[in-house]
Amino acid sequence: MIHVKKAFVIGHPIRHSRSPLIHGTWLAEHAIAGSYDAIDVAPDDLAGFVGRVRAGEFVGGNVTIPHKEEVFRLCDSIDPLAETIGAVNTLVREEGGRIRGFNTDYMGFLGNLDQNAPGWSVRLGRAIVLGAGGAARAILVALRERGFKEIVLLNRTPEKAEALAREIDGPFTPGRLSDFAFYAGGADLLVNTTSIGMHESRFDDLDLGLLPETALVTDIVYVPLMTPLLADARAVGVRTVDGLGMLLHQAVPGFEAWFGVRPEVTAELRQKVEATL
Ligand code: ATR
Repeated sequence: MIHVKKAFVIGHPIRHSRSPLIHGTWLAEHAIAGSYDAIDVAPDDLAGFVGRVRAGEFVGGNVTIPHKEEVFRLCDSIDPLAETIGAVNTLVREEGGRIRGFNTDYMGFLGNLDQNAPGWSVRLGRAIVLGAGGAARAILVALRERGFKEIVLLNRTPEKAEALAREIDGPFTPGRLSDFAFYAGGADLLVNTTSIGMHESRFDDLDLGLLPETALVTDIVYVPLMTPLLADARAVGVRTVDGLGMLLHQAVPGFEAWFGVRPEVTAELRQKVEATL
């Protein structure tokens, strides 16, 4: 009998997830006897579901909204970087049934820029991060791990940027969005981690013309792919990378842990996922 390794993405709701398409493509590509399915798990059923993973029904899987924080408490061990980020998006069942929690968003962020903006981190000077919510945390850890000397954290509510800069260890300078003009001239990288850019929303007073022409601008929003921020950056002639690659690259470490093969993010995979946006 062939032993089929089963993986999952759980969330509530979950039917719009692109993860089954991504992992399904890789499973087929590598002819692996495995499955990866989206499973709707209500908050009350989360502990029971993790119990099923522990018992051996699954090799692991991804966890998305609204479970990323609660699942943290249900893991038997947590990877140190997931601990710093404060959220788990990937579960791996270890031998004996212990569940270890990881956060692969920071690797997704780095993998996207490494693939689509080669050389982007040769100059590890100043990065500007917009937003201080949950999504900012993985990006701050990514930039710290890559070795940026100064990471300016700008937020509508500056107190939240200050709190985050205190909580996470790193070369962080907190401020408000209106401080952008002060820091822009020396920035090598600008990252949006807020939801601004979705539904036609845009930042009011960011003058991207102040960025050096060597700067790189990236956005974690990928619907639409060309956010107003990226369009403005292109208009002033700086390099841009959209957010879809982060979604694709954050899937790589999980697949490798569950199925034992490191998959590749190819142009064909990107096209397949882009066609569903
Ligand atoms: P998530 O956990 O998904 O990151 P969040 O914690 O609600 O979501 O954070 C959203 C981020 O987007 C925050 O930095 C938020 O700024 P505040 O801390 O001031 O709330 C930012 N954000 C959301 N809407 C915004 C808007 N219209 N203008 C400026 N910033 C906005």
